[in-house]
Amino acid sequence: MSIYLDYNATTPMRPEVLDAMKPYFDSHFGNAGSVHSRGREAKRALEEARETIASALGVREKEAVVFVSGGTEGDNLAIKGVAWAARERGRHIVTSAVEHRAVIGACRALEQQGFEVTYLPIDAEGLIDPETVERSLRADTTLISLMHANNETGVIFPIAEIGQLTRERGIVFHTDAVQTFGRLPVNVETHGADLLTLSGHKIYGPKGIGALYVRPGTRIVPQIHGGEQEQGARAGTENVAAAIGMACAVKIALESMPTEHYRLRTLRDRLETGILGRITGTRRNGDQDRRLPNTSNISFHGVREDSLMAALDLEGVEVSAGAACASGAPESSYVLQAMGRRPEIDGGGIRFSLGAATTEAEIERVIDLLPGVVERVRTATLQGAGVRVRA
Ligand SMILES: Cc1ncc(COP(=O)(O)O)c(C=O)c1O
Repeated sequence: MSIYLDYNATTPMRPEVLDAMKPYFDSHFGNAGSVHSRGREAKRALEEARETIASALGVREKEAVVFVSGGTEGDNLAIKGVAWAARERGRHIVTSAVEHRAVIGACRALEQQGFEVTYLPIDAEGLIDPETVERSLRADTTLISLMHANNETGVIFPIAEIGQLTRERGIVFHTDAVQTFGRLPVNVETHGADLLTLSGHKIYGPKGIGALYVRPGTRIVPQIHGGEQEQGARAGTENVAAAIGMACAVKIALESMPTEHYRLRTLRDRLETGILGRITGTRRNGDQDRRLPNTSNISFHGVREDSLMAALDLEGVEVSAGAACASGAPESSYVLQAMGRRPEIDGGGIRFSLGAATTEAEIERVIDLLPGVVERVRTATLQGAGVRVRA
């Protein structure tokens, strides 16, 4: 059996989630926009799902939750939606250099359309300084988009402080909480977020569904045009089954968070100490404390991340390395580069992300296995270099 340690990439759907969804593919297949009984039944279920997600985020008005197709669409709708809605007031957006590609990509697209974007740096531990954020603000800044926690390192940003800053200045604040929901408390009031993105498949829900919280009164321009679904913010027949699946996953994530947080942190720390203690030339990437409980990112000197990932895969251990670009070819991580890591010197970063099915036995197995695998990859890398030198 393989050992899956890539829960930040995606999670398996819980059986309860599938059970909750099934009727909506079958007997309850109605279109939530239809006015007959079957349609109204679908609409009722959709609105219940919306309410569950709203209340999980500390939101009273369920209409503030907009169902979208996932984290990527949620981020795009938040950023492009606010940028265009506020364009008469200003065209400057602030974000960080280590956001998920969904955010960076949306910002780059806006730059092509005459908006200006500041990509803030982070420090060697992956943290952002609220003062740096404050200094970047201008009279024409309309939006700040900063993630709650980084998907590669797990480092947590001080978003409540940033939320406070934006409130004082009347700037809209978006946070991508795709990696934090179910792992840390997420509450739009505590964080001062005007917009917040969630994704279903990161919390043991289905793929292809997400939610964007939009604070009532925050203007966004829809990015998909058509019908008046989702309070006019997102056209298209709603994916009722997926929304119900996501709401079910949200409920379970909240219930299991207190115990899972501690359990995963203990396992993660055991894994990290085991690796750093047993393998020379290793280095943790990301602040020790201000980090997601399930995530560990480690650089291995003299090893390319894609080679180590492939070698581990052959041993039945599934982890993630850097960021895979659209072609599938590995690229060294822009997140680690922003932390000042040099892949040629520090080695590539491997992300171990633990989740619901991770056991102590699996962690011990990885600790036992990894030194030999790293040794083999290091030797092969040196030999490879030697062959090239002789040729
Ligand atoms: C921080 C973050 N934001 C956004 C996304 C995109 O979410 P989705 O896969 O639902 O489009 C991801 C997924 O990796 C993520 O980790």
